Amino acid sequence: MAIIETSKLTKHYGRIKAVDGLNLKIEEGEVFGLLGPNGAGKTTTIKILATLLDPTSGTATVNGFDVEKYPSKVRESIGIVFQEPSTDELLSGYENLKMHSMIYGIPKSEVDKRIEEALSLVELTERKNDLVKTYSGGMRRRLEIGRGLLHRPKVLFLDEPTLGLDPRGRETMWGYVQRLVKELNMTILLTTHYMEEADALADRVCIIDHGKSVAIDTPENLKESMGGDLVTIVSDSPKIGEVKKLKFVKKIEKLDGKYLITVDSAAENLQELLKKIGKVDCVEVRSPTLADVFMKNTGRGLEEAEGGWFDKIVQQSVNKQ
Ligand SMILES: Nc1ncnc2c1ncn2[C@@H]1O[C@H](COP(=O)(O)OP(=O)(O)OP(=O)(O)O)[C@@H](O)[C@H]1O
Ligand SMILES: [Mg+2]
Repeated sequence: MAIIETSKLTKHYGRIKAVDGLNLKIEEGEVFGLLGPNGAGKTTTIKILATLLDPTSGTATVNGFDVEKYPSKVRESIGIVFQEPSTDELLSGYENLKMHSMIYGIPKSEVDKRIEEALSLVELTERKNDLVKTYSGGMRRRLEIGRGLLHRPKVLFLDEPTLGLDPRGRETMWGYVQRLVKELNMTILLTTHYMEEADALADRVCIIDHGKSVAIDTPENLKESMGGDLVTIVSDSPKIGEVKKLKFVKKIEKLDGKYLITVDSAAENLQELLKKIGKVDCVEVRSPTLADVFMKNTGRGLEEAEGGWFDKIVQQSVNKQ
């Protein structure tokens, strides 16, 4: 039985279809990634699954419980780390966890043991008595994850777990998530707009755009669905059209004045390809990424879909902290 299942899940805000007929089946023990640009509907989906928002139509179950009929059963089954920071800066790490334990009604005799366990998992034991306002961004995220684990949920929702972290902080965080999966055998649903993150962490990825799933599979299969390696060529050679005839060339497209050529095994065939074209100004060879899969399925790039202003806003909010 799937531990999370949605059927035609839909959420409308007036004319905006935030989630639009989403069908998901997530198995126990899976790390499942929802990958999509700003406004794709990732947070809305998590909020519905966490019973914080009712769907407009469709159904969802978590741990076998319908989110609308048995919200308290669903809440017992889940831990959640929100996209927005939600720890109290004026309390210590330990006090934050203690407060959460009380809210969740964890038996008094258990509280300290659970807090120690959670702190140790996210490696914050030594900093537990420091005020959260003295923590780095990555430490705060880790504390939030630790907090989400206190009531030992079966499923953990991580909404943009590495938003605002630098690349090193991001990779450290990936390590913690992988550790949770290994040591606690949890099911994790994470959202991200970083394709590297979905690729590194998720067993399966749902690429989501305008509230709709455009592709669901393992990162490997999604990348393989591109049908080969990608060679980008800048050239005004009249012979470029002729490469279509080469049997290892799968596809040739012109994008922004560059030719994007999909080939079987670039390592074996690049030389012959270049020889055929003759004069070439610039060549780039790479394996497909999830961003390419997004582009193939939506007709636009992940970054383009973000409008380019996303990182600016993140940077501004980081600067403010
Ligand atoms: N409370 C709300 N009222 C009206 N529209 C909303 C509300 N919350 C979200 N939306 C809209 O629903 C759509 C999906 O938003 P959502 O927050 O789920 O996206 P997201 O994929 O999490 O984006 P991001 O990567 O920016 O976090 C957006 O168009 C957003 O403007
Ligand atoms: Mg979001």
